[in-house]
Amino acid sequence: MDIVKHNKLAWDNCVDKKDRWTIPATDEELEDVRNGNWGIVLTPNKKVPKDWFPPLKGLKILGLASGGGQQGPILATLGADVTIFDNSEKQLQQDKILSDKFSLDIKTVQGDMRDLSVFEENSFDLIFNPCSIVFVDDVLPVWKECYRVLKPGGILMTGLINPIIFQLDEENLKLIYKQPFSDVHSLPKEELEKLKKENEPFVFGHSLSDQIGGQLDAGFKITGMFEDIWDVENKMNEFMPSFIGTRAVK
Ligand SMILES: C[S@@+](CC[C@H](N)C(=O)[O-])C[C@H]1O[C@@H](n2cnc3c(N)ncnc32)[C@H](O)[C@@H]1O
Repeated sequence: MDIVKHNKLAWDNCVDKKDRWTIPATDEELEDVRNGNWGIVLTPNKKVPKDWFPPLKGLKILGLASGGGQQGPILATLGADVTIFDNSEKQLQQDKILSDKFSLDIKTVQGDMRDLSVFEENSFDLIFNPCSIVFVDDVLPVWKECYRVLKPGGILMTGLINPIIFQLDEENLKLIYKQPFSDVHSLPKEELEKLKKENEPFVFGHSLSDQIGGQLDAGFKITGMFEDIWDVENKMNEFMPSFIGTRAVK
């Protein structure tokens, strides 16, 4: 099964359906940014700590799997030199629309986050990767590629999901799926068929070894982390945070 192709069309479909992760920054938000009031997320709620960022003016930033017009236009408004890379053309279009409207000069590139060969090594100062590695079945190549395209001292900020979330039956919070979870291999056949029919993205749960150990094995030093909860009703919020944000340095 071609997962990248499926998820590309599924995320285009999310844009058509106005899924919450496809709604771009508003004019008012960008006006606030110009007045010095800004914040961006890797996970649903918590803004990334400001002291995680170096001065943004002129900083070469890769928004990795960050289409949708949320983070790119804000970073570009703050003076960063922004490239948004995403698998979905319609998600990239959201960034392009705001870039054109506000003359932000955001570059957009379509592709799979495990193959950043369109970029030279040592190209970027910062990679901003909001929760999206759940959409690939193998995350280790993502960390290797991030390490390659970052300059020495460059920073990788990424949103992760605690793998326990994928082991549970969401309704009853009972452990039912073995690690590693994948929509493609773990779900009963009829549920997978439903996802295909409804053109929903396929997701994959990754072990902490792959999500955190994988960054370390690629050569990164992790210098910051936080946890976060869902911003919509979710039973897990009563028990534990489902999301993790990390900051790592090459
Ligand atoms: C939850 S959205 C995150 C982006 C959004 N800007 C945000 O604020 O969180 C996940 C994004 O990952 C992208 N994506 C999924 N699979 C991908 C892949 N293999 N390579 C690159 N991008 C991918 C989707 O197209 C989608 O835009």
